[in-house]
Amino acid sequence: MQISLLKRVPIFSNLGEEELEKIRTLCVTKHYLKDQLILIEQDIGNSMFLIQKGRVKVFRMTEDGREVILTILEDGDFFGELSLLDEKERSASVMAIENSEVLLLRRGDFLRLLEEYPQIAISLLKELAARIRRSDTQIKSLSLQDAMGRVASALIRIADVHGKEIDRNMIITRVPLQQDLANMAGTSRETISRVFKYFEDEGLIHRDGRKLTIQNYSRFKRMFQ
Ligand code: CMP
Repeated sequence: MQISLLKRVPIFSNLGEEELEKIRTLCVTKHYLKDQLILIEQDIGNSMFLIQKGRVKVFRMTEDGREVILTILEDGDFFGELSLLDEKERSASVMAIENSEVLLLRRGDFLRLLEEYPQIAISLLKELAARIRRSDTQIKSLSLQDAMGRVASALIRIADVHGKEIDRNMIITRVPLQQDLANMAGTSRETISRVFKYFEDEGLIHRDGRKLTIQNYSRFKRMFQ
């Protein structure tokens, strides 16, 4: 594995060559196929993961067997750090949704890096802060908003992480499948389909295969946030 790949991981981006070289020797590269489980909720955690290539979904199962997607992570993102920090079981399951390449860091090495390089700890805390804020938004949307608001909030969460804003419009090139969107929004696939049709009829969004454009993104956000 190349050091240049490690530089692309945001929590390592402030480090020099020497530190990156050390981290490189600690990481193990692993490959996961699409739909392969990487972590299982409630397992004991021994490692954390850095995504080099691909995408994963972080999810939990409800009592009645429904999947609730907490977030989708992509290259540059990390996961599996929580149980290493609080020494509890895995808080969620993680599955590859594309063929993915990840770097694995073992608990002892990860904790030593945090102690040795406070910059890594600060970058990690910043990302955890952003995740708590996103979770807060999700809680608000699940408890307060109607189906339309929930779908809009899910789209906004995806757009803020994966979207590209061009001329006031927000373009999401690979919008998740309707069932995955439904699981993110805490609703059914039928509701996603109904709400999408309504949004399209109202000229709020435009769909072209997996590409979704939110027209006048700031207005859309004002309407639903
Ligand atoms: P851990 O609990 O070790 O294993 C599951 C991982 O999923 C967890 O660490 C986090 O990295 C990740 N995770 C859990 N909940 C969220 C969330 N709400 N947003 C982003 N990532 C999460």
